[in-house]
Amino acid sequence: MSMLQAAPPESIADFLAVQTKGLKKAFGTNQILTGTNIEIPEGSISTVLGPSGTGKSVLVKHILGLLSPDEGEIFVHGRALSTMSRSEILALRREIGVMFQDGALFSSMNIYDNVAFPLRQHTDLNEREVRQLVEEQLDAVGLLQSFDRYPKELSGGMRKRAGLARALVMEPGIVLCDEPDSGLDPVRTALLGELLLERQAELGGTMIVVTHNIALAKLISDHISVLWRGQIIASGSREAIFNSPDPFVRQFLEGDVAGPLGMDA
Ligand SMILES: Nc1ncnc2c1ncn2[C@@H]1O[C@H](COP(=O)(O)OP(=O)(O)OP(=O)(O)O)[C@@H](O)[C@H]1O
Ligand SMILES: [Mg+2]
Repeated sequence: MSMLQAAPPESIADFLAVQTKGLKKAFGTNQILTGTNIEIPEGSISTVLGPSGTGKSVLVKHILGLLSPDEGEIFVHGRALSTMSRSEILALRREIGVMFQDGALFSSMNIYDNVAFPLRQHTDLNEREVRQLVEEQLDAVGLLQSFDRYPKELSGGMRKRAGLARALVMEPGIVLCDEPDSGLDPVRTALLGELLLERQAELGGTMIVVTHNIALAKLISDHISVLWRGQIIASGSREAIFNSPDPFVRQFLEGDVAGPLGMDA
């Protein structure tokens, strides 16, 4: 398999929201990240595309400072995480909105309180100000009418949208969505994709979407990084990736059984 790194246009290379250099991480003898070099351009939607179990969520946790690497460095807006104090890492996490893979809504709180939670936790806004921001976010994801429902009373798609509203309520410069489509049918996935596009266009900032869903990546990405066995084996604009001649990239994008990618990946 050839290593393909499509050269990004200069405007992309100039500003990186997130960058990792030589990231390595093992759990016991299980080497997950094997020298991950990722470059996420600022101000657009980037997807990290890769098969199940290849280390996508582990990479996300490194970017959030929830896991630390065995080797290598993570930069967020040019700042190395290893040089930050604990309080700086906590402050950084407030600037990164996260939509976790499993939704991670608080089951004991209704949707309104779930979305209000980061504001109540991290700001000293009064309840009237909180209400205005929460209602804006709920309205944008079509959940204003459902504000008093609990997570267990929502469909999978509604839970995802509530998770997105909570991830965006602090208006973070970076929002990380880990498998926003998991558990959704293709129509709900496409609708969620449209919503991600709409929210990023409205709020600006950098949206990083981690997924193995090729249709979703095709719908929303400005930029794509392909992760395989803990390394970025291809990156570039959506067009560059979908036109890539690389055999692994082709096999993964076409869902082909024959090719370099096997069950042991
Ligand atoms: N805290 C941990 N301790 C031990 N092993 C872990 C830990 N977190 C992840 N792993 C292992 O790392 C590997 C990659 O996991 P990860 O969750 O990053 O995959 P993924 O690419 O996000 O997959 P999926 O598409 O299914 O979400 C798996 O083999 C997993 O078992
Ligand atoms: Mg995952």
